[in-house]
Amino acid sequence: MVHPAHSSRPAVPMAAWRSGPLAGRLRVPGDKSISHRALMFGALAIGRTEISGLLEGEDVLATAAALNALGAQAVRVGNGRWAVDGIGVGALAEPEDRLDLGNSGTSARLLLGMLATHPITAFVTGDASLRRRPMGRVVEPLSRFGAHFVAREGNRLPLAVRGATDPIPIVYRLPVPSAQVKSAVLLAGLNTPGTTTVIEPQPTRDHTERMLRHFGATVSTEPEEGGGSRITVEGYPELAAAPIVVPGDPSSAAFPLIAALIVPGSDLTVEGVGINPLRTGLLECLEEMGADIALLNRREEGGEPVADIRARAGILKGAEIPAERAPRMIDEYPILAVAAACARGRTVMRGLAELRVKESDRLAAIATGLDRCGVRVAVEGDDLIVEGAGNFPAGGAMIETQLDHRIAMAFLVLGLAANEPVRIDDDAPIATSFPGFNAMMSRLGAAIGQE
Ligand code: S3P
Repeated sequence: MVHPAHSSRPAVPMAAWRSGPLAGRLRVPGDKSISHRALMFGALAIGRTEISGLLEGEDVLATAAALNALGAQAVRVGNGRWAVDGIGVGALAEPEDRLDLGNSGTSARLLLGMLATHPITAFVTGDASLRRRPMGRVVEPLSRFGAHFVAREGNRLPLAVRGATDPIPIVYRLPVPSAQVKSAVLLAGLNTPGTTTVIEPQPTRDHTERMLRHFGATVSTEPEEGGGSRITVEGYPELAAAPIVVPGDPSSAAFPLIAALIVPGSDLTVEGVGINPLRTGLLECLEEMGADIALLNRREEGGEPVADIRARAGILKGAEIPAERAPRMIDEYPILAVAAACARGRTVMRGLAELRVKESDRLAAIATGLDRCGVRVAVEGDDLIVEGAGNFPAGGAMIETQLDHRIAMAFLVLGLAANEPVRIDDDAPIATSFPGFNAMMSRLGAAIGQE
């Protein structure tokens, strides 16, 4: 088993230079959110779940290792093909050692949800980035089920959880739009009698709800009076193993697609990308910016809508991106900001408070990085404002990636359209979500490499 990302590994500097046109067809790795859930729900089902297209990035491998430590058996049987022998809801075994979830917030928060209603004790930690991230957002609702937590100051990892012996179902209104928090509560609800409810004021990705239904759980989503939705799960379902086909990750596809939009003469098609409407906010923004993007060959694969996405270079214009769209494109702001830097005019991205608690403080990381690359940028409250000059950014900067894969990839893409090369201090975090990123981009014509 590959070990999750450790902050102590050596940094790998990388650079990207102005490139000729990018061209070709490609597939990106499997969806990270769906990959985590396929392994977790497979572990809670009875029987063998066969998964194809699993993202074999460090984050997902951390989930697999944790599930194996909890008594399930997740085994790689081929390229992106995994078999999970589940143990059923309520049967997690106490892990002998701490669970190290590397860089992965999704692993940490969703697994804490599962652990909260099993009468076992577990110790959870992660890398320097994950240890900085807030866990209070799950500790608070999960404590209401009867779980006990002992965490570092500010509810940070490492933490210890003692799951509830007699869990109590809860009704929980999300204070922040977060699919991870929603999922943690629903997962805790599986091993709890009665009905557990999450009220979601703003819609977030619904892969948990879709996949739980696919495994046979009773999950309902209804409109909530006064706006938003009310999601309920019935406790003690008999989850039955079910095959999962993981679509390409739209959050990973965003990097080559925007590279194609900003490098003159480019024409790329990314095949088999998930286009779940709760993930496609970026495509709406790009359309408003005048991008030449086409969704081709729309189809359904494994319960999720999928398409091939073609992007051709052209002139982009600035746009106003409303706060309400943020949950449907929360991971795409670093690369959208790069597109905005190359566009003509001002792009205002509103309501980005959640970016401050991602793998890094992304709001600060984007603003600092763009500023160093000669782009006019400002943060006003929770809004990010980028003044695009309508031509190539200066570049010529070193970017600190701060253990953040998306900051690393976004600034490498910026380098492909900059006047001077853009360097990143550490390329290694990219392996958490997009193993093989540099090789794939190079194959399409991108100038990325070590100096
Ligand atoms: C995810 C939800 C989002 C997203 C993360 C994956 C998920 O996080 O940023 O990359 O799989 O549920 P939040 O729930 O914190 O917004």
